[in-house]
Amino acid sequence: MELLDGLTTRRSIRAFIGQPLPRDLIIMVLDAARWSPSWGNTQPWELVVVEGEKVKQLTQELVAAFAGKVPPNPDVPMLQTFPDDYKARYTACAAGLFGTMGIARDDKASRWAHMVKMTGAFGAPVIIYVIFNAELGEPYTMFDLGAFTYSICLGAHALGLGTCIEAQLARYPDLVRKHLNLPASHKVAVGIALGYPDPLAPANAFRTDREPLAKFVRWVA
Ligand SMILES: Cc1cc2nc3c(=O)[nH]c(=O)nc-3n(C[C@H](O)[C@H](O)[C@H](O)COP(=O)(O)O)c2cc1C
Repeated sequence: MELLDGLTTRRSIRAFIGQPLPRDLIIMVLDAARWSPSWGNTQPWELVVVEGEKVKQLTQELVAAFAGKVPPNPDVPMLQTFPDDYKARYTACAAGLFGTMGIARDDKASRWAHMVKMTGAFGAPVIIYVIFNAELGEPYTMFDLGAFTYSICLGAHALGLGTCIEAQLARYPDLVRKHLNLPASHKVAVGIALGYPDPLAPANAFRTDREPLAKFVRWVA
């Protein structure tokens, strides 16, 4: 796959077929993604690849916490309010996804069920957790982790695999640390759901749009 094609055709995948992923494929993706850029080549990322039974054990606990309305305490705080323009895009994204899935605006039960599936990594056979050492501080670390995370998504896409970056998988970092045997000094940025996309799932037919260049690029000569 051409790189530019990959950039424009990748999309978040929110339904997976159950088939396990050969470890060789995961290694191929990570081995390419490790060439991601970082501040002064500090490479501040640490990854934990969760496979097999561990995915089930962890997601069961995440889902139980979420369904039980346990207050989340993510290591990377989520914005609670967005300025209007950004909020409009966020709202359009959710409306578009639910619309494509045939879920009506007022169908709270189906929306909730989707959130529960999200908390369960959409049934992905693998979750890659992107971790950082709290000593590093956040601004540039987040930048670098973002580059690595996106490289994983693109590399997976090049091999016909699907990914969804999920802040949702990092809402209960203490549970993640417990299952992954991580010390408290290690913070959880995101989880990436990884697997073979389900080609028949309506959620996977959803495509977000983007603003045209004219909206956010200025040229100065
Ligand atoms: C940091 C980050 C966190 C995200 N968290 C979630 C999430 O918890 N659940 C989800 O369904 N998608 C999540 N996404 C995916 C975005 O919704 C998605 O990338 C965006 O809508 C653009 O769509 P696309 O990836 O299909 O191009 C996240 C993306 C990023 C970059």
